[in-house]
Amino acid sequence: MNIAIDGPAGAGKSTVAKKVAGALEYVYIDTGSMYRALAWAVHHHALPIENEAAVSQLLQDNVIHLRRVQGEQHVYWNDTDVTAWIRTSEVSQFASIVASYGAVREQMLVLQRNLATQGNVVMDGRDIGTHVLPDADVKIFLTASIRERAERRWKELREKGLDPDLSEMEKDIAERDQRDMNREVAPLRQAEDAVLVDTTGMTIDQVVDRILEICERTG
Ligand code: C5P
Repeated sequence: MNIAIDGPAGAGKSTVAKKVAGALEYVYIDTGSMYRALAWAVHHHALPIENEAAVSQLLQDNVIHLRRVQGEQHVYWNDTDVTAWIRTSEVSQFASIVASYGAVREQMLVLQRNLATQGNVVMDGRDIGTHVLPDADVKIFLTASIRERAERRWKELREKGLDPDLSEMEKDIAERDQRDMNREVAPLRQAEDAVLVDTTGMTIDQVVDRILEICERTG
């Protein structure tokens, strides 16, 4: 069985997908980390982000792969583990820009489908149920209000000892939502056969239980 979890930025997809994968003993695949790795590389090589052909060529000439390190999924750009560098707000914005490029998405689609051929994966992203795995057995569209999504990110960063600005984070998330929903290629949409789970006011465990219930009904 393959499970697709899509939704906007900060809806809790990765936390929830990781837990669902753990409970079912499935492999968790974070497709956002692949766009982030490319965004990191664009930044690292000081490539002009607006140059779609150059960004796409960069992806073609290098290798992104996912590997489990001490039970956690890490993302590699060639031999470099970039996991620790891809969560900055700059890389987030760059990721949603490179993700709007058709030639980039085509390559990512092939990579991501290959990762799922083994079966029993929980894959999270923006276009998994609609494009990457249209035949996924379970499709979930996870969302929450922008305010709540920003607050969750804010709390996460506070716990890491940072002092982020909540209204900046809200703006950041709203900007990424707009870009993800309005791009021409594979925009963020709920698949027709996806189950909508609005997580506003729900705890992580409640969301995980709800998804496991949906899986059980399907399986
Ligand atoms: O999920 P995450 O926030 O890590 O993803 C980073 C960016 O990558 C998103 O803002 C989105 O633009 C892009 N993305 C995508 N399709 C996916 C996964 C991520 O367009 N399947």
